[in-house]
Amino acid sequence: MEDAMKVFREFFELPFEEKSHLYSEESNVKCRLYTSSFDYANEDIHYWRDCLKHNCAPLEDCIDSWPQNPPRYREVVAKYSTQVRELGLRLLDLICEGLELESGFFGNGYDENSFVSVNHYPPCPDPRLTLGLPKLCDPNVITLLLQDTIPGLQVCVDNKWLLVKPCPDAFVVNMGYQMQIISNGKLKSAEHRVVTNTQKARTTAAYFILPSKDCIIQPAKALVKMGDPPLYKQFQYAEFIETFKAHSTWEPAKVLELFENVQ
Ligand code: OGA
Repeated sequence: MEDAMKVFREFFELPFEEKSHLYSEESNVKCRLYTSSFDYANEDIHYWRDCLKHNCAPLEDCIDSWPQNPPRYREVVAKYSTQVRELGLRLLDLICEGLELESGFFGNGYDENSFVSVNHYPPCPDPRLTLGLPKLCDPNVITLLLQDTIPGLQVCVDNKWLLVKPCPDAFVVNMGYQMQIISNGKLKSAEHRVVTNTQKARTTAAYFILPSKDCIIQPAKALVKMGDPPLYKQFQYAEFIETFKAHSTWEPAKVLELFENVQ
């Protein structure tokens, strides 16, 4: 974890010329460096984040697109992402046991397209005018977030924003919307956002476990009974993600409402 955080930081410390070839405004590029302010002249809040995003699995299909500088990037991130994925799959097995689903439930296409977003939030002269990330819920199954020691992540509890204290050697695990749907509302996806600070750059790496585009998502049959009807419809993951992207400025909960089962 320390090694991975070190190469992620080193990547963002490189002079711009050494990473500019990875810069792209196209969202479907395999390995993409971008900045998240979209419409600087018109947006109410500016987003103060640079991001390096690339697929992580299967490793042999994506590693050639990863940065070659810092020179240890590929070696360290391959080892890191393989182990974070294993941890994620163990967590899914434990969640499966906790929800009393049949063993191996999450083995069926729910982790086909994992990717990592390495976030870099530079110090900001006026944090009142910016957010690192807007209020959102993750659209995927689960996310494992590695934070450095600088605070910035907040979670919404009873309409109040609480700081998620960075804890070295630990991951923050976020349930995504797919988990909320599959668990028929038993596990809730938490609303979170990222604030900026004037003093120090902050680096984090979010590892997203997500289903294949054609994966059919619905509340697990074992959790739907008399008196516990399905709260959500059945759909293909591709449909969900298109809708999620098309409504990126909506309140997070409103997007999920589109997939609720109206009786
Ligand atoms: C994300 C995320 C939190 C953070 O990348 O989706 O929630 O603290 N990041 O960077």
